[in-house]
Amino acid sequence: MVVLEYVFKDYYQNEVKLSFQEQPFSKTPKHVWIICKYKDKWLLTEHRSRGLEFPGGKVEKGETAEKAAVREVMEETGGVVNKLYYIAQYFVTGRNGTIIKNVYFAPIETLKEQPTYYETNGPVLLDDIPENIKEKKRFSFMMKDDVLSRCLRYVEKHY
Ligand code: GTP
Repeated sequence: MVVLEYVFKDYYQNEVKLSFQEQPFSKTPKHVWIICKYKDKWLLTEHRSRGLEFPGGKVEKGETAEKAAVREVMEETGGVVNKLYYIAQYFVTGRNGTIIKNVYFAPIETLKEQPTYYETNGPVLLDDIPENIKEKKRFSFMMKDDVLSRCLRYVEKHY
């Protein structure tokens, strides 16, 4: 059996476990993160305090993780999600508890301008994700560990 699980430290030295199997840590994760592509560009959002990152957030009460993913992409970028592909799940052991997050890929065809982008400044389109992203102040800490590099590799291989 091939075990597709990776263990590494994040930007803040918290331990992260990343798996490409079907929701190994929880069937009801409380967080989602969506790697979005609009035409041939990556679609990110600019979080007001954390900086550039792919959209995502918390699953609300009574909501499924998929519904939360669709909602978060719309709220933070105006992107309409028609197709959503599960990629991976990760588990972060932080100082104040643990979080479990599903990662999805969404190819976006329509961007609808929104009256508010909540705690973000809205959509940002990028041709490339920089190789040396860890040194780039504009990018959020969430973009600075192996979750992103491994999931991008997965997206490029499969979609
Ligand atoms: P709110 O202010 O209510 O949004 O919550 P919070 O800041 O406590 O954040 P949340 O519950 O989303 O996350 C708690 C901690 O988990 C964060 O401070 C991070 O250290 C960590 N964390 C959250 N999301 C990620 C992630 O995508 N990657 C990594 N490596 N750590 C994360």
